[in-house]
Amino acid sequence: MDWIALKHALLSHLPVATGLLLPMALLASQRPGRGIRPWWTVARYLGWAGFLGILGAFLSGFASGRLLGFIPPHRLLPLPAWGPGVDALLFRHALLGGASLLVAVGALWSMTRSRKDHQGLGVLALLLGLVWSAVLLLAGESGYRLAHGNRVRVPAQVAAPAVAPPVLIQVPPVEQDSEAKVPVRALDHASLEPIHPQPVKSPAHGGRWIQVWANPEAVAAYRSGQPLPPGTFVVLSTLEDRWGRPGAEVGPLYALEMKASGPSLTFYWPRIPMDRRQAFGGDSRAYWRGNDPHLNACRTCHAAGMADPAQRSRWRAKKALPGE
Ligand code: HEC
Repeated sequence: MDWIALKHALLSHLPVATGLLLPMALLASQRPGRGIRPWWTVARYLGWAGFLGILGAFLSGFASGRLLGFIPPHRLLPLPAWGPGVDALLFRHALLGGASLLVAVGALWSMTRSRKDHQGLGVLALLLGLVWSAVLLLAGESGYRLAHGNRVRVPAQVAAPAVAPPVLIQVPPVEQDSEAKVPVRALDHASLEPIHPQPVKSPAHGGRWIQVWANPEAVAAYRSGQPLPPGTFVVLSTLEDRWGRPGAEVGPLYALEMKASGPSLTFYWPRIPMDRRQAFGGDSRAYWRGNDPHLNACRTCHAAGMADPAQRSRWRAKKALPGE
C-alpha cells in the first residue's frame, strides 16, 4: 500500500496526458465517411489508456491520502472544506479525481459502442469525452497545485552590487529556508532507510507507535548510537495507539536535522484528528520548528540532537494469537 501511495505523482501523469490528447482524436473521429475507422481506434485506445491511468491514479491517490493522514480512517474522502485554503484544494482534488473515474465509465462506453463502418464515433462520445478530458485536466491541475503550489516561495537572490551602497535599514538577508521544506522531506520519509522493520511503542512520543527513518549519512551512526554527523536527517513516523496496538490513525511526524548550527527539531501533524484538537488549541494542523516554544519539552531528551540510545523503545506489538 505504501509503495502504491508513493507512486501517485507518477501514475497521475497518464490521465492528464489523456485529457490533453483525447479531444483532438474525438473531433477527428466525428467525420462520417470511409477511412474513419483508424480515428475510432485512436480515440478508443486513448480512452482505455486514460481509464487504466485514472484507475491507478485513483487508487494511489487514495492510498497516499490515507498514508499521509489526509483521509481519516473509515472515510473515502478528505473532510469537506470549501474556500481558498489547502484543505479545500485537497477536497476539490479528491472530488475531481472521483468524478473523473465516474465520467470515464460513461465516456468509454460511448466511445466503444458499435458503429457502422462509414459512421463517425458520434456526438455523444464527443460530448462525454470532452467533459471527461476537462475533469481530468482540472484534477491534474489541482494536484499540481497541491504538490507544488504550497511550498514557501523564496525570492530569487538579488545579485550583490560590487560596492555596497550605504544601508540605512539593515534588512536581514533572505535565507534559503531549508526548514520550510522539512515537512515535504519528512512526508517523503519512505525514501529514507527504515531503521525499524515494524513500529515500536514510544512512551516519550505520546505513547504512539513509531518507526525511525534515516538518510544514508546517518544510518550507521544511528544504529550504533554514535553522535550523528552533520547533514543527518532522521524522521520518526507515527501511528496513534489503539487498544495497545498500532491504530489506523496517522500520528505526527517528528524530524531531526543536524545542521552546522546545531540540531534542529520539527513536529509536523498535517491533520490532527477532531478528538485531539483541543490539546492543540483547536487547530487542525500543527507545525513546530526552529525555536518554537512547543519544542522546549523535546529538548529535555534531545538537547544534543539524538536522544540517548539507551532510552530507545523496544516494545513491539504482539502478534495476534490464533483465534483472536
Ligand atoms: C522523554 C524523552 C523524550 C522526549 C520528551 C522527546 N523524545 Fe524524541 N526520542 C526519545 C527517544 C528515547 C527516542 C528514540 C526512539 C524511541 O525509542 O522512542 C527519540 C527519537 C526521536 C527522533 C528520532 C531520532 C532520535 O533521536 O532517535 C526524533 C526526530 C524525535 N525523537 C523528535 C522529538 C520531538 C520533536 C519531540 C518533542 C515534540 C521529542 N522527540 C520528545 C526521547 C524523547
